[in-house]
Amino acid sequence: MKRLQGKRALITGAARGIGLAFAKKYIAEGARVAIADIDIELARKVVAELGSAAVAIEMDVSKQDSIEWAVAETIEQLGEIDILINNAAIFSANPIVEITREQYQSAFDINFAGTLFTLQAVAKHMIEQGKGGKIINMASQAGRRGESLVAVYCATKAAIISLTQSAGMNLIQYGINVNAISPGVVDGEHWVGVDAFFAKHENKAIGQKKEEVGAGVPFGRMGTAEDLTGMAVFLASDEAEYIVAQTYNVDGGQWMS
Ligand SMILES: NC(=O)c1ccc[n+]([C@@H]2O[C@H](COP(=O)([O-])OP(=O)(O)OC[C@H]3O[C@@H](n4cnc5c(N)ncnc54)[C@H](O)[C@@H]3O)[C@@H](O)[C@H]2O)c1
Repeated sequence: MKRLQGKRALITGAARGIGLAFAKKYIAEGARVAIADIDIELARKVVAELGSAAVAIEMDVSKQDSIEWAVAETIEQLGEIDILINNAAIFSANPIVEITREQYQSAFDINFAGTLFTLQAVAKHMIEQGKGGKIINMASQAGRRGESLVAVYCATKAAIISLTQSAGMNLIQYGINVNAISPGVVDGEHWVGVDAFFAKHENKAIGQKKEEVGAGVPFGRMGTAEDLTGMAVFLASDEAEYIVAQTYNVDGGQWMS
């Protein structure tokens, strides 16, 4: 029995990385998926490979009109939305004295406001449908504690954990479960830039930071996007009905709380 048979999911930032792994797993579990991404060319390319269970939706989560259009377009193309994964985000790193207003603003516009207002738009639809729904936000171990060079990104992810608590408490009256996944260090394209940043700021060779963080994970290696898909399916399934406002670490033992 497929665990998400007949469900319709909107996943933001799903043209690559973790979001794409979620989309593939959801389709394998019987769902139809809207691959919503600012990179519409890449979204169309992956949809061509994924087949008729996927549709490509152009979406910039930092813009209110784009959120509203993308949610309406997803409903138009899939019929309804049963599951939302707020996955789109950008990484941002700098020593404190070099943080600019622009970096701060874009990180909060995309990572936090993007999650809040996409969640709001989809929650309105779910309330109207009257059938509840599942909303999953992407947090991070970076939201569990500060990091010397990553102040702004860490703050956006701490805000996601807090939002998950408030929205979870507020929306459960409508049968909408809001929870979050907190990954540790996940290998992928995202890490090319992260590794290069630390190479520069911590005077390391290219690839060294990645090797070090992998070795530091209790499990013994960095995570993969696929390591996260089990939790994403579970939280979207009927089995997660009684789970409200929680953030789950899926990180090989990095963070314990
Ligand atoms: N990779 C990690 O180590 C790691 C660790 C913890 C948490 N996370 C979180 O997991 C999620 C996915 O991470 P990833 O590594 O797959 O990232 P990624 O950079 O590989 O993919 C992000 C996707 O979001 C899209 N995107 C960027 N800005 C957007 C916008 N304004 N509107 C719509 N789409 C936009 C990009 O085009 C891209 O397809 C993020 O929320 C990230 O913070 C990642």
